[in-house]
Amino acid sequence: MTGLSDAAALDDPVGESLRAHHAHLARRLGGAATYIPEVATFSAVPAEPDAAAWQDLAKLLGPGEFADMFSCPAIPPPDWEPVFVLEGRQMVWAGDSVPDPSPDEAGAGVIRLGAEDVPEMLDLVERTRPGPFQPRTHELGPYLGIRDGGTLVAMVGERLRPPGWTEISAVCTAPEARGRGHAVRLLRAHLARVVARGERPFLHVAEANSGARALYERLGFETRKKVTFRGFRTP
Ligand SMILES: CC(C)(COP(=O)(O)OP(=O)(O)OC[C@H]1O[C@@H](n2cnc3c(N)ncnc32)[C@H](O)[C@@H]1OP(=O)(O)O)[C@@H](O)C(=O)NCCC(=O)NCCS
Repeated sequence: MTGLSDAAALDDPVGESLRAHHAHLARRLGGAATYIPEVATFSAVPAEPDAAAWQDLAKLLGPGEFADMFSCPAIPPPDWEPVFVLEGRQMVWAGDSVPDPSPDEAGAGVIRLGAEDVPEMLDLVERTRPGPFQPRTHELGPYLGIRDGGTLVAMVGERLRPPGWTEISAVCTAPEARGRGHAVRLLRAHLARVVARGERPFLHVAEANSGARALYERLGFETRKKVTFRGFRTP
């Protein structure tokens, strides 16, 4: 397994992405930051936030708005209403190189998805529920897909980009197309892309999703830590 000494950025993946690679997609006030809502719902505050940081985020989002704090361990003041809590894991890819695809895999018709594919991407997400996905989420990083008879049946994308790392996200295959290796092909294509640009792949998975976790472990991902995803409503 590769060293994880440079993994500190993974403790605040939303804040680190908003400060750097995704700065052009950020709205910020003081130490608080959030994505443009059509891109992602995630928000960030500094480590050990004081009351002013939470006030900045509340102002940024507006009253009674959804604050998706992703894996941030800090809890906002009591007048922020809890909306959801979800236990999960952060996993990092521990391999050294991505094996070349088999000839079958190489010809599998992996395509780059763009703005014109968004209605189909939203439909696939609605049917498979891999996690949050907005109409402009695909602007966070490349999204790759597989079509069958012209219909989009599988996709995987790149989301958070803390320095040195790329999060693989929106891993989903339509129910009728499962078990044919689509997810593995798309995941390997992303692993190859991320590793080729000198970054390291990571991802998040819900604790209850043991099927997806087993798939990630087979591909070389290891659990870095357990996380709790939390969402709130601003006062
Ligand atoms: C997880 C998911 C993307 C897998 O898609 P897929 O295209 O069927 O995956 P593949 O065909 O590439 O499967 C690869 C292997 O993992 C296994 N596998 C896939 N999903 C599994 C599950 N839910 N439970 C157990 N095993 C699973 C397959 O059996 C296959 O094993 P095999 O190669 O020994 O036959 C799909 O089940 C899905 O869309 N789930 C709902 C969305 C989701 O949970 N996404 C993950 C969010 S973190």
